[in-house]
Amino acid sequence: MRQRGLILAAFISLALFLLFIFISFNAHLLKSPLLLSIAPQEPSSAPPQFSLLIGILTRADKYDRRHFLRLVYGIQSSPVAHIDVKFIFCNLTKPEQRVLVALEILRFEDVIILNCMENMNSGKTYTYFSSLPQILRRQYDYVMKADDDVFIRLAPLALSLQPLPRLDLYYGFVIPCASTNPFVEYMSGMGFVLSWDLVEWIAESDIPGNDTFGPEDKLVGKWLNMGNKAKNRFSNKPAMYDYPGTNGRCSHELIPETVAVHRLKRWDQWSNVLHFFNVTHRLKHYPEFRNIL
Ligand SMILES: *[C@@H]1O[C@H](CO)[C@@H](O)[C@H](O)[C@H]1NC(C)=O
Ligand SMILES: *[C@@H]1O[C@H](CO)[C@@H](O)[C@H](O)[C@H]1NC(C)=O
Ligand SMILES: *[C@@H]1O[C@H](CO)[C@@H](O)[C@H](O)[C@H]1NC(C)=O
Repeated sequence: MRQRGLILAAFISLALFLLFIFISFNAHLLKSPLLLSIAPQEPSSAPPQFSLLIGILTRADKYDRRHFLRLVYGIQSSPVAHIDVKFIFCNLTKPEQRVLVALEILRFEDVIILNCMENMNSGKTYTYFSSLPQILRRQYDYVMKADDDVFIRLAPLALSLQPLPRLDLYYGFVIPCASTNPFVEYMSGMGFVLSWDLVEWIAESDIPGNDTFGPEDKLVGKWLNMGNKAKNRFSNKPAMYDYPGTNGRCSHELIPETVAVHRLKRWDQWSNVLHFFNVTHRLKHYPEFRNIL
């Protein structure tokens, strides 16, 4: 009788012990973002050194483009930077957008809708930068404005920003095409980066606020000059350029050290670029796909 009692007690203790292990393991799982994360992060022990928001200016109706760009950026990452990619557009205008864009927001949380009407040269870039300090729940070290026809390689971009100042920085591809002086004249709209202090300055200063109509990317350069801002400028040529043959001296052949290729209008251009940069290379580890590569 006594022996049975002992065995029963032992069983109960063992069961309680296992239950305890089970609960603490699950609690650990729930708390650990690492274990739950399915983001394709490269294994890296060092924490990111800086943060970057890439805002891709597009229009609400361009569902297919966003779907494609989510693939292009979803499979990239950089160990040195925390990078968020968001799609930026103005107010929705059609009934179906309210449902279709809502679906995207629920699924991806990567859409920012600005208080503006879709426009060329009447202030979308100003609205973008000047709204961010209010809209965002967090601050970034850098904010980029990018077009939706540019391919950006996140790891080389982050590596090129890593040694640069975190303040008063204006980075991109300087226009005119032949210019190598980042102070003459302004950075191309394909993709340029501002440090967070300059984003805040755009939001607060009268200089941009009074001067929002006109060629948007050129205006950014003009504001910074008028405000005596962006003492740190960096034009990343030849790593940024237009697709070969599409834009005179702004174009050149694809090169391995590329950060961004612009003016990708057609599928064959996208495909050439993704192929050149080995974006789909890791598929070669799957024998069943070998014959399509
Ligand atoms: C954008 O939509 C908001 C909310 O519906 C509205 O208050 C605002 O006036 C709109 N802005 C423009 C520029 O149309
Ligand atoms: C901007 O416009 C306001 C109102 O018209 C004016 O008072 C202010 O001086 C202007 N600021 C600049 C920097 O031009
Ligand atoms: C792509 O992969 C090939 C074969 O491994 C290599 O020779 C080439 O340098 C890679 N291209 C780039 C841009 O990294």
